[in-house]
Amino acid sequence: MTQEIKASELNAEEFIAHQVEEIRNTVGDGIAINALSGGVDSSVVTMIGHRAVGDQLKTYFIDHGMMREGEPEYVKQVFENLGVNVVVYDAKEEFYKALEGIEDPEEKREAITRTFYKTVFGGLVRETGAKFLLHGTILTDVDETVAGIKRQHNILAQIGVDTEKEFGYHVLEPLIQLRKEGVRIVAEAVGLPEEIYNRMPFLGPALAGRVIGEVTPARIATVRAATTIIEEELAESGAFQYMAILHKDRVTGMRGGGREFGQQIELRCWESIDARTATPTRVPYETLEKMATRIIGEVPGIVSVTYNITPKPPSTMEAI
Ligand code: XMP
Repeated sequence: MTQEIKASELNAEEFIAHQVEEIRNTVGDGIAINALSGGVDSSVVTMIGHRAVGDQLKTYFIDHGMMREGEPEYVKQVFENLGVNVVVYDAKEEFYKALEGIEDPEEKREAITRTFYKTVFGGLVRETGAKFLLHGTILTDVDETVAGIKRQHNILAQIGVDTEKEFGYHVLEPLIQLRKEGVRIVAEAVGLPEEIYNRMPFLGPALAGRVIGEVTPARIATVRAATTIIEEELAESGAFQYMAILHKDRVTGMRGGGREFGQQIELRCWESIDARTATPTRVPYETLEKMATRIIGEVPGIVSVTYNITPKPPSTMEAI
């Protein structure tokens, strides 16, 4: 059972010093790798890891083709400014192939997990000679997976996966005692810019987690375009997290005087402290209308836009 460090009890400087020491002792003069998604968790791990072992840590941005618009370039640039070299690794083909034909949410998560940990990291470990993978898992990820609610893509040891045996490397999880609030405090203390430490959470499976039904490049492009719009329109909302979800069911719409059996986008926006519970934001009606107008006008094939007003629980924050 992992001992939680509550945000109110956290001494960020001590925490960082302790984790740096632990990583240094464990990695020794070996090689470690980590994947940076640009979210606050993996950003903190990147900074702490580099502080611990410098160039012995190889940082990769895994481009699975399911990221938000402009994300690989943005993340690489932010870290370049901080003096950290990030290698963008193109894994689009591997991920889309693994997801082909899969509709069930847990099977999708399983396919993403295996592609990340076995195919991609397994390959990188062989290429670099690394023995360790530094990983940004936090306590909330563990809770929900262990409770059987949703298998978070990054949970391995806690559900009995022996990474050494199955994938050929050890996983180090320096943030496992923290929740999001604590991670943000450490992020600021470790020198990350505000655009990162206050960044809205984003899920590891990325936009694949926001497509109900099969994940294809075309369906990802649709949800990506809607995501850009909701992120622009709600940037100043102060909400914990907001998202666009592409539904599988089609509905009859009309455009240009003709019938269009089109697709549906569902919007969600959440107020939350730690993602364990959440309530829908009372987004002003004018903003909802503006988002709907933009989505039906700018995203090809969408004839229906809805806003979800269900709290978590019984909803979860993401749709799959
Ligand atoms: P749910 O949908 O479980 O989401 O209510 C709670 C928080 O966790 C994020 N989330 C994930 N993050 N891998 C991640 O790294 C995942 O598989 C995953 N699933 C959900 C979600 O965005 C929200 O902040």
